[in-house]
Amino acid sequence: MVFPRFAVLAVALLAAACGGPAAGDQPKPGDGALVGVTMPTTKSERWISDGENIKRDLESRGHRVDLQYAENDVPTQVKQIEDQIAKGAKLLIIASVDGSALTKPLDTAANARIPVIAYDRLLRGSPNVDFYATFENFRVGVYQAESLLTGLGLRNPDASPGPAEGPFNIELFAGSADDNNAAFFFNGAMSVLKPYLDNGKLVVRSGQTEFQAVTTLRWDGETAGKRMEEILGTTYRRAKVNGVLSPYDGISLGILTALKNGGYGPEFPIVTGQDAELGSVKSIIAGQQYSTIYKDTRELAKATASMAEAVLKDRTPPQLNNLNDYDNGVKVVPAFLLNPVSVDKTNYHKVLVESGYYTDDQLR
Ligand code: GAL
Repeated sequence: MVFPRFAVLAVALLAAACGGPAAGDQPKPGDGALVGVTMPTTKSERWISDGENIKRDLESRGHRVDLQYAENDVPTQVKQIEDQIAKGAKLLIIASVDGSALTKPLDTAANARIPVIAYDRLLRGSPNVDFYATFENFRVGVYQAESLLTGLGLRNPDASPGPAEGPFNIELFAGSADDNNAAFFFNGAMSVLKPYLDNGKLVVRSGQTEFQAVTTLRWDGETAGKRMEEILGTTYRRAKVNGVLSPYDGISLGILTALKNGGYGPEFPIVTGQDAELGSVKSIIAGQQYSTIYKDTRELAKATASMAEAVLKDRTPPQLNNLNDYDNGVKVVPAFLLNPVSVDKTNYHKVLVESGYYTDDQLR
């Protein structure tokens, strides 16, 4: 849907950059709109916090929120969005299960002139997505690969060459192929790993190096664990795997279970992750998972609520900071990107506890 009000985006952005948010952005009691928020699943802690944080932030601005979780089922999410439209939602915020599967409800939203913000995951194949709020997804992958290299000793934390020579055996895992983020993470990681694969310091003994060969449907930890078990059984009967590129903490825990079942431990291969989920942070402290990528979802929720406020007032969100990178196949979606932070045993306390994301007690 091309809203006339967003058509002159560049001009509006310039105006926003010069003038900052307009004074009228303050919430007015009683002018609250119904906002439909759909999240993929409650199986992962992060989406629970994302949903709760967006709800709280929008409610504190005087809006009403219909928050739904689709439990990773596409038809459920389609129905939830259609119901929100029927209930009179004035704006939709969507973290999709399958980014390309929502074109029909997005058409319905466009016909009802309801704007749409894609949350964390890009909505693909539709003109009817107005804005996107997420993290620097390519950088997430870069950080994952850099921490894999650091853990193996091929790179020092200051980016200088590390003490180890290699060669090291690694295996690669990617996220769900129907989530636009999965390729961003993988491509970011491969941009760092490729020179080491080319010069033989890193070796993928399974030979599974293409994105399509290493994806994990719905980011499911058990699926990843099964693939790791198969690889251990076929490729590592006489050799050891030294590192595993994992794109997400739920997958990392599945991989670590497979490694334990395969006889690894108490020393484990270097396993990366993402989301700083509680179980994984504890695993990092216990010396099992090596690292994760922290994305402060409180900040993403806050930024999204403030973007929503602007959109509901027919304004272009002033936060937008990326107008080029998120082509959804039909249009380039104007985006707001936040910075991720790489976390391992050396900095988890500073990054996660001192920021108030977790308490010491939670991590015990
Ligand atoms: C991605 C998201 C990651 C992780 C993953 C699995 O879309 O960007 O942070 O949560 O889904 O839920």
